[in-house]
Amino acid sequence: MTVVRDYKAFKEARELLDGSVGFVPTMGALHEGHISLIKRAVKENDNVIVSIFVNPTQFLEGEDLDKYPRKEEADIKLCELAGVDILFMPTIDSIYFEDEMKILAPAVAGYILEGAIRPGHFNGVLQVVMKLFNITRPNRAYFGKKDAQQLLLIEKMVNDYFLPIDIVECDIVRDSDGLALSSRNVYLSDDERKRALAISKSLKRAGKMIMSGERSVSKIKDDMIRLLKESVDELEYVEIVDKALNTISTVQEQNTLILVAAKVGNTRLIDNLWI
Ligand code: PAF
Repeated sequence: MTVVRDYKAFKEARELLDGSVGFVPTMGALHEGHISLIKRAVKENDNVIVSIFVNPTQFLEGEDLDKYPRKEEADIKLCELAGVDILFMPTIDSIYFEDEMKILAPAVAGYILEGAIRPGHFNGVLQVVMKLFNITRPNRAYFGKKDAQQLLLIEKMVNDYFLPIDIVECDIVRDSDGLALSSRNVYLSDDERKRALAISKSLKRAGKMIMSGERSVSKIKDDMIRLLKESVDELEYVEIVDKALNTISTVQEQNTLILVAAKVGNTRLIDNLWI
């Protein structure tokens, strides 16, 4: 595995790759969720590139940029073990420039749900993903369904800017107790972790309601809200939308997303279920 930290060194390493390229962009502090994306990319491509870059532009003022977990040494080992060919760990200065061009998130889909709570967040995500796509020039890029809105907006960017990249949607990886894996789970105390389980439980219950024939979005939402409010400290949203992120009143087979965002203690958690 080649580890590179700036564009020039990356370009040299990239030129040596022959065959198809799978790309997994990350912010590091790698967990089983990331490893599952990397393993899938290894299976489906001749070469795999992983980036680790804690992207400052997607954090809002007062968010956890400074304390975001950083585990460089462990991450390098995990990538090596998983079969990564190039690990790109750029510095901020090698990615961002003064007074630079901006990619803007769509005015509607980028400012609802996560975008309403974190206005501007998706501008930063799309800006850095566009840069990383142009630097790495992958055939396929792998994203987890846990960040559902991010995934859908990246698919939209690829569509709207005619980028020749296949976006591969990868399933959410959960701990044995149901908690969706996230680098931010390390912030949770034992008690908070227990209470955080209400999030995946509420989604599981919604799934069961749908399996047993319930189609009313308001009934499913009410049930989830009741369950969640018993355990989380701040329920930011429970929304049921179609895959274009439009609100719906009845569940549509193969075209429904149930999304939850909540704070447990000071930790913000998101999770979702794709129907
Ligand atoms: O999902 C993430 O880890 C980040 O948002 C991403 C896609 C690597 C962009 O910084």
